[in-house]
Amino acid sequence: MTKRGPTARMRPALAGLSAYRPGKALRFKLDANESPFPFSAPLLEAMQRAAFDSPLWRYPDARATPLRNALAEHLKVDGERLLMGAGSDEVISILMGAFGEGKALYPDPSFSMYAVSSKTHGLAPLPVATNADFTLDPERLERALVAERPVLAFYARPNNPTGAVFEESILREMIEKSSETLHIIDEAYAPFFSRAQSLQHFADEYSNVAVMGTLSKIGMAALRVGWLYAPKAVAEELDKVRQPFNLSVPVIESAATFLREGQSELERFLNEAQADRDELASILAGSAHIDEVAPSEANFLLAHAPDCERLHAHLLSHEVSVRVFRHPALAGWMRISLGNAQSRNALRDALGVFPAP
Ligand SMILES: Cc1ncc(COP(=O)(O)O)c(C=O)c1O
Repeated sequence: MTKRGPTARMRPALAGLSAYRPGKALRFKLDANESPFPFSAPLLEAMQRAAFDSPLWRYPDARATPLRNALAEHLKVDGERLLMGAGSDEVISILMGAFGEGKALYPDPSFSMYAVSSKTHGLAPLPVATNADFTLDPERLERALVAERPVLAFYARPNNPTGAVFEESILREMIEKSSETLHIIDEAYAPFFSRAQSLQHFADEYSNVAVMGTLSKIGMAALRVGWLYAPKAVAEELDKVRQPFNLSVPVIESAATFLREGQSELERFLNEAQADRDELASILAGSAHIDEVAPSEANFLLAHAPDCERLHAHLLSHEVSVRVFRHPALAGWMRISLGNAQSRNALRDALGVFPAP
Protein backbone atom coordinates (compact mmCIF):
# COMPACT_ATOMS: atom_id res chain seq x y z
CA MET A 1 0.00 0.00 0.00
CA THR A 2 1.40 3.45 -0.85
CA LYS A 3 1.83 5.83 2.06
CA ARG A 4 -0.39 8.93 2.17
CA GLY A 5 -0.36 12.16 4.09
CA PRO A 6 2.63 14.20 5.30
CA THR A 7 4.77 11.21 6.28
CA ALA A 8 4.77 10.10 2.62
CA ARG A 9 6.81 13.20 1.78
CA MET A 10 9.42 12.76 4.49
CA ARG A 11 12.91 11.41 3.69
CA PRO A 12 12.53 7.86 2.34
CA ALA A 13 15.51 6.83 4.52
CA LEU A 14 13.29 7.22 7.63
CA ALA A 15 11.31 4.17 6.59
CA GLY A 16 14.29 1.96 7.36
CA LEU A 17 14.96 3.50 10.80
CA SER A 18 13.42 3.06 14.25
CA ALA A 19 13.33 5.65 17.02
CA TYR A 20 15.88 4.94 19.75
CA ARG A 21 14.22 3.07 22.62
CA PRO A 22 16.69 1.60 25.10
CA GLY A 23 15.71 -1.63 26.83
CA LYS A 24 14.18 -1.64 30.30
CA ALA A 25 16.70 -0.49 32.93
CA LEU A 26 17.81 -3.49 34.96
CA ARG A 27 19.54 -3.58 38.33
CA PHE A 28 23.02 -4.25 36.96
CA LYS A 29 23.46 -1.91 34.04
CA LEU A 30 26.42 -2.88 31.90
CA ASP A 31 24.99 -1.90 28.54
CA ALA A 32 25.49 1.84 27.97
CA ASN A 33 29.19 2.58 28.70
CA GLU A 34 28.23 5.15 31.32
CA SER A 35 30.20 5.78 34.46
CA PRO A 36 28.60 3.84 37.31
CA PHE A 37 29.73 6.36 39.93
CA PRO A 38 28.35 9.64 41.11
CA PHE A 39 31.10 12.10 41.96
CA SER A 40 31.51 13.39 45.53
CA ALA A 41 28.64 15.17 47.29
CA PRO A 42 30.56 18.49 47.55
CA LEU A 43 31.30 18.49 43.80
CA LEU A 44 27.70 17.62 42.92
CA GLU A 45 26.40 20.30 45.30
CA ALA A 46 28.70 22.91 43.72
CA MET A 47 27.37 21.88 40.30
CA GLN A 48 23.77 22.15 41.49
CA ARG A 49 24.34 25.58 42.97
CA ALA A 50 25.99 26.77 39.76
CA ALA A 51 23.17 25.31 37.67
CA PHE A 52 20.42 27.31 39.28
CA ASP A 53 22.22 30.39 40.51
CA SER A 54 21.59 32.13 37.17
CA PRO A 55 18.77 34.27 35.79
CA LEU A 56 16.61 31.49 34.37
CA TRP A 57 14.30 34.00 32.67
CA ARG A 58 17.10 35.00 30.27
CA TYR A 59 18.27 33.05 27.25
CA PRO A 60 21.62 31.31 27.70
CA ASP A 61 24.88 32.86 26.51
CA ALA A 62 24.80 31.79 22.85
CA ARG A 63 28.53 30.99 22.89
CA ALA A 64 28.25 29.09 26.21
CA THR A 65 31.25 31.15 27.33
CA PRO A 66 31.78 29.75 30.86
CA LEU A 67 31.78 26.20 29.51
CA ARG A 68 33.86 27.14 26.46
CA ASN A 69 36.52 28.63 28.74
CA ALA A 70 36.52 25.69 31.16
CA LEU A 71 36.69 23.19 28.31
CA ALA A 72 39.46 25.12 26.56
CA GLU A 73 41.46 24.96 29.79
CA HIS A 74 40.69 21.25 30.28
CA LEU A 75 41.78 20.37 26.73
CA LYS A 76 44.54 23.01 26.62
CA VAL A 77 43.25 24.42 23.34
CA ASP A 78 41.99 27.68 21.85
CA GLY A 79 38.34 27.94 22.90
CA GLU A 80 37.43 29.74 19.68
CA ARG A 81 38.03 26.49 17.83
CA LEU A 82 35.50 24.52 19.90
CA LEU A 83 32.00 23.71 18.72
CA MET A 84 29.81 22.45 21.56
CA GLY A 85 26.65 20.41 21.36
CA ALA A 86 24.10 18.51 23.41
CA GLY A 87 26.33 15.44 23.48
CA SER A 88 28.53 14.44 20.58
CA ASP A 89 25.33 13.11 19.02
CA GLU A 90 24.36 16.72 18.35
CA VAL A 91 27.83 17.54 17.09
CA ILE A 92 27.52 14.67 14.60
CA SER A 93 24.15 16.01 13.57
CA ILE A 94 25.60 19.53 13.07
CA LEU A 95 28.36 18.07 10.90
CA MET A 96 25.83 16.20 8.79
CA GLY A 97 23.64 19.30 8.55
CA ALA A 98 26.57 21.40 7.35
CA PHE A 99 27.16 19.10 4.38
CA GLY A 100 23.55 18.07 3.73
CA GLU A 101 24.56 15.68 0.97
CA GLY A 102 27.36 13.34 -0.03
CA LYS A 103 28.72 10.30 1.76
CA ALA A 104 29.82 9.74 5.33
CA LEU A 105 32.45 7.03 5.69
CA TYR A 106 33.17 5.03 8.84
CA PRO A 107 34.97 1.77 9.56
CA ASP A 108 32.31 -0.86 10.18
CA PRO A 109 31.32 -2.00 12.77
CA SER A 110 31.33 1.26 14.69
CA PHE A 111 29.09 3.69 16.53
CA SER A 112 25.57 3.45 15.12
CA MET A 113 24.87 7.20 15.04
CA TYR A 114 27.23 7.77 12.11
CA ALA A 115 24.82 5.81 9.89
CA VAL A 116 21.60 7.00 11.54
CA SER A 117 22.55 10.67 11.47
CA SER A 118 23.72 10.39 7.83
CA LYS A 119 20.34 9.02 6.83
CA THR A 120 18.28 11.56 8.75
CA HIS A 121 20.25 14.41 7.15
CA GLY A 122 20.19 13.24 3.55
CA LEU A 123 23.72 11.81 3.39
CA ALA A 124 24.57 8.27 2.37
CA PRO A 125 26.36 6.15 4.97
CA LEU A 126 29.55 4.60 3.61
CA PRO A 127 30.54 1.72 5.91
CA VAL A 128 33.96 0.21 5.20
CA ALA A 129 34.42 -3.22 6.75
CA THR A 130 37.26 -3.62 9.24
CA ASN A 131 39.35 -6.79 9.27
CA ALA A 132 37.87 -9.74 11.17
CA ASP A 133 39.91 -8.74 14.24
CA PHE A 134 38.33 -5.24 14.06
CA THR A 135 41.55 -3.51 12.93
CA LEU A 136 41.56 -1.14 9.96
CA ASP A 137 42.13 -2.45 6.46
CA PRO A 138 44.11 0.44 4.93
CA GLU A 139 43.69 -0.69 1.34
CA ARG A 140 39.93 -1.01 1.57
CA LEU A 141 39.71 2.33 3.34
CA GLU A 142 41.87 4.10 0.79
CA ARG A 143 39.88 2.65 -2.10
CA ALA A 144 36.64 3.93 -0.57
CA LEU A 145 38.09 7.36 0.17
CA VAL A 146 39.51 7.79 -3.32
CA ALA A 147 36.63 6.28 -5.29
CA GLU A 148 33.68 7.59 -3.27
CA ARG A 149 35.12 10.94 -2.11
CA PRO A 150 33.06 11.07 1.11
CA VAL A 151 32.47 14.52 2.58
CA LEU A 152 32.99 13.15 6.09
CA ALA A 153 34.90 10.23 7.59
CA PHE A 154 34.41 9.19 11.23
CA TYR A 155 36.92 7.11 13.18
CA ALA A 156 35.94 6.30 16.76
CA ARG A 157 39.23 5.83 18.61
CA PRO A 158 38.92 3.68 20.71
CA ASN A 159 36.17 2.24 18.57
CA ASN A 160 32.70 1.39 19.86
CA PRO A 161 31.67 -1.42 20.23
CA THR A 162 35.01 -3.17 19.76
CA GLY A 163 37.36 -1.15 21.98
CA ALA A 164 40.05 -1.22 19.25
CA VAL A 165 42.45 1.71 18.89
CA PHE A 166 42.96 2.41 15.19
CA GLU A 167 46.57 2.82 14.20
CA GLU A 168 47.79 6.39 14.07
CA SER A 169 49.96 5.80 10.99
CA ILE A 170 47.00 4.44 8.98
CA LEU A 171 44.85 7.42 9.93
CA ARG A 172 47.62 9.80 8.90
CA GLU A 173 47.89 8.10 5.55
CA MET A 174 44.13 8.32 4.94
CA ILE A 175 43.98 11.97 5.98
CA GLU A 176 46.88 12.89 3.73
CA LYS A 177 45.48 10.96 0.77
CA SER A 178 42.00 12.50 0.91
CA SER A 179 42.44 16.16 1.63
CA GLU A 180 38.90 17.10 0.53
CA THR A 181 37.29 14.87 3.15
CA LEU A 182 36.74 16.23 6.66
CA HIS A 183 38.08 13.46 8.92
CA ILE A 184 36.60 13.27 12.40
CA ILE A 185 38.47 11.44 15.12
CA ASP A 186 35.87 10.57 17.73
CA GLU A 187 37.62 10.41 21.09
CA ALA A 188 34.55 9.63 23.23
CA TYR A 189 36.55 6.83 24.93
CA ALA A 190 40.01 8.36 24.72
CA PRO A 191 40.06 9.35 28.44
CA PHE A 192 40.31 5.62 29.18
CA PHE A 193 43.64 5.19 27.49
CA SER A 194 46.83 7.09 27.98
CA ARG A 195 46.46 10.78 27.19
CA ALA A 196 49.65 10.56 25.19
CA GLN A 197 47.79 8.47 22.65
CA SER A 198 45.13 11.09 21.95
CA LEU A 199 45.21 12.46 18.42
CA GLN A 200 43.85 15.86 19.44
CA HIS A 201 46.97 17.41 17.89
CA PHE A 202 45.83 16.20 14.45
CA ALA A 203 43.38 19.13 14.45
CA ASP A 204 46.43 21.44 14.65
CA GLU A 205 48.45 19.57 12.06
CA TYR A 206 45.78 19.12 9.39
CA SER A 207 43.19 21.53 8.02
CA ASN A 208 40.88 18.58 7.23
CA VAL A 209 40.77 16.96 10.69
CA ALA A 210 38.64 17.66 13.74
CA VAL A 211 38.59 15.78 17.03
CA MET A 212 35.38 15.06 18.90
CA GLY A 213 34.91 14.49 22.63
CA THR A 214 32.18 14.13 25.25
CA LEU A 215 31.56 14.29 28.98
CA SER A 216 29.18 11.33 28.72
CA LYS A 217 31.67 8.53 29.32
CA ILE A 218 33.46 10.25 32.18
CA GLY A 219 30.57 10.58 34.53
CA MET A 220 28.29 13.28 33.13
CA ALA A 221 26.10 11.50 30.56
CA ALA A 222 22.97 13.21 31.89
CA LEU A 223 24.30 16.70 31.16
CA ARG A 224 24.63 16.06 27.41
CA VAL A 225 27.83 17.90 26.58
CA GLY A 226 29.96 17.04 23.58
CA TRP A 227 32.39 19.06 21.48
CA LEU A 228 34.45 19.24 18.35
CA TYR A 229 37.94 20.74 18.31
CA ALA A 230 38.30 21.85 14.71
CA PRO A 231 40.45 24.06 12.49
CA LYS A 232 39.19 27.63 12.91
CA ALA A 233 37.63 27.86 9.44
CA VAL A 234 35.73 24.58 9.98
CA ALA A 235 34.55 25.61 13.46
CA GLU A 236 33.24 28.92 12.10
CA GLU A 237 31.22 27.30 9.33
CA LEU A 238 29.76 24.66 11.64
CA ASP A 239 28.74 27.34 14.12
CA LYS A 240 26.30 28.65 11.51
CA VAL A 241 24.44 25.33 11.64
CA ARG A 242 24.32 25.08 15.44
CA GLN A 243 21.16 26.34 17.10
CA PRO A 244 22.18 29.43 19.07
CA PHE A 245 20.88 28.17 22.42
CA ASN A 246 21.64 24.48 22.07
CA LEU A 247 23.07 24.23 25.59
CA SER A 248 20.87 25.28 28.49
CA VAL A 249 22.06 27.52 31.32
CA PRO A 250 22.02 24.73 33.96
CA VAL A 251 24.13 22.58 31.62
CA ILE A 252 26.61 25.34 30.76
CA GLU A 253 27.10 26.30 34.40
CA SER A 254 27.17 22.84 35.97
CA ALA A 255 29.47 21.37 33.31
CA ALA A 256 31.84 24.33 33.65
CA THR A 257 31.91 23.75 37.42
CA PHE A 258 32.57 20.04 36.89
CA LEU A 259 35.55 20.81 34.66
CA ARG A 260 36.92 23.52 36.94
CA GLU A 261 36.49 21.75 40.27
CA GLY A 262 36.34 18.05 39.44
CA GLN A 263 39.78 17.43 37.91
CA SER A 264 41.28 15.45 40.79
CA GLU A 265 38.16 13.30 41.17
CA LEU A 266 38.12 12.72 37.44
CA GLU A 267 41.73 11.59 37.49
CA ARG A 268 41.02 9.16 40.32
CA PHE A 269 37.99 7.80 38.46
CA LEU A 270 40.02 7.22 35.29
CA ASN A 271 42.80 5.45 37.19
CA GLU A 272 40.26 3.18 38.85
CA ALA A 273 38.72 2.42 35.47
CA GLN A 274 41.98 0.75 34.39
CA ALA A 275 41.81 -1.62 37.36
CA ASP A 276 38.10 -2.22 36.74
CA ARG A 277 38.84 -3.19 33.15
CA ASP A 278 41.46 -5.70 34.32
CA GLU A 279 38.97 -7.16 36.77
CA LEU A 280 36.23 -7.45 34.16
CA ALA A 281 38.74 -9.09 31.79
CA SER A 282 39.64 -11.66 34.43
CA ILE A 283 35.95 -12.44 35.11
CA LEU A 284 35.42 -13.04 31.41
CA ALA A 285 38.65 -15.02 31.00
CA GLY A 286 37.56 -17.22 33.90
CA SER A 287 34.21 -18.10 32.34
CA ALA A 288 33.82 -21.28 30.31
CA HIS A 289 31.05 -19.57 28.34
CA ILE A 290 33.26 -16.86 26.82
CA ASP A 291 35.85 -17.95 24.27
CA GLU A 292 37.36 -14.61 23.22
CA VAL A 293 37.67 -11.06 24.48
CA ALA A 294 38.66 -8.35 21.98
CA PRO A 295 41.52 -6.05 23.06
CA SER A 296 39.93 -2.87 24.40
CA GLU A 297 41.24 0.49 25.57
CA ALA A 298 37.75 1.76 26.39
CA ASN A 299 35.37 1.49 29.35
CA PHE A 300 33.89 -1.75 28.05
CA LEU A 301 34.97 -5.13 26.71
CA LEU A 302 33.61 -7.01 23.72
CA ALA A 303 33.33 -10.72 24.52
CA HIS A 304 32.48 -13.62 22.24
CA ALA A 305 30.19 -16.35 23.53
CA PRO A 306 29.55 -19.51 21.50
CA ASP A 307 26.00 -19.59 22.91
CA CYS A 308 25.53 -15.82 22.86
CA GLU A 309 21.78 -15.55 22.42
CA ARG A 310 20.96 -17.93 25.26
CA LEU A 311 23.64 -16.42 27.49
CA HIS A 312 22.23 -12.95 26.87
CA ALA A 313 18.73 -14.11 27.91
CA HIS A 314 20.23 -15.79 30.98
CA LEU A 315 22.05 -12.60 32.03
CA LEU A 316 18.86 -10.57 31.59
CA SER A 317 17.00 -13.02 33.80
CA HIS A 318 19.64 -12.26 36.47
CA GLU A 319 19.05 -8.50 36.06
CA VAL A 320 22.38 -8.04 34.25
CA SER A 321 22.03 -6.02 31.04
CA VAL A 322 24.77 -6.17 28.42
CA ARG A 323 24.62 -5.07 24.81
CA VAL A 324 24.21 -7.43 21.85
CA PHE A 325 24.04 -6.33 18.21
CA ARG A 326 22.20 -7.22 15.04
CA HIS A 327 25.27 -6.51 12.90
CA PRO A 328 26.48 -9.70 11.14
CA ALA A 329 30.14 -8.98 11.98
CA LEU A 330 29.14 -8.90 15.66
CA ALA A 331 27.17 -12.14 15.77
CA GLY A 332 28.11 -13.98 18.95
CA TRP A 333 29.67 -10.91 20.57
CA MET A 334 28.38 -8.98 23.56
CA ARG A 335 29.60 -5.61 24.81
CA ILE A 336 29.97 -5.31 28.56
CA SER A 337 30.59 -1.95 30.23
CA LEU A 338 32.94 -1.77 33.22
CA GLY A 339 30.15 -0.92 35.69
CA ASN A 340 30.77 -0.99 39.43
CA ALA A 341 32.02 -3.85 41.62
CA GLN A 342 28.48 -4.90 42.51
CA SER A 343 27.48 -5.23 38.84
CA ARG A 344 30.66 -7.12 37.98
CA ASN A 345 29.99 -9.52 40.87
CA ALA A 346 26.45 -10.03 39.61
CA LEU A 347 27.87 -10.78 36.16
CA ARG A 348 30.40 -13.26 37.60
CA ASP A 349 27.66 -14.99 39.62
CA ALA A 350 25.28 -15.19 36.65
CA LEU A 351 28.04 -16.58 34.39
CA GLY A 352 28.74 -19.18 37.07
CA VAL A 353 25.20 -20.57 36.98
CA PHE A 354 24.60 -20.57 33.21
CA PRO A 355 22.87 -23.91 32.64
CA ALA A 356 23.95 -26.33 29.90
CA PRO A 357 21.49 -26.42 26.96
C1 LIG B 1 32.03 6.51 19.71
C2 LIG B 1 30.95 7.33 20.29
N1 LIG B 1 30.86 8.61 19.92
C3 LIG B 1 29.91 9.41 20.39
C4 LIG B 1 28.98 8.93 21.30
C5 LIG B 1 27.87 9.86 21.73
O1 LIG B 1 28.08 10.35 22.95
P1 LIG B 1 27.22 11.55 23.53
O2 LIG B 1 26.20 11.97 22.53
O3 LIG B 1 26.63 11.02 24.77
O4 LIG B 1 28.23 12.63 23.77
C6 LIG B 1 29.03 7.61 21.73
C7 LIG B 1 28.03 7.11 22.68
O5 LIG B 1 27.89 5.96 22.92
C8 LIG B 1 30.04 6.80 21.19
O6 LIG B 1 30.11 5.51 21.53
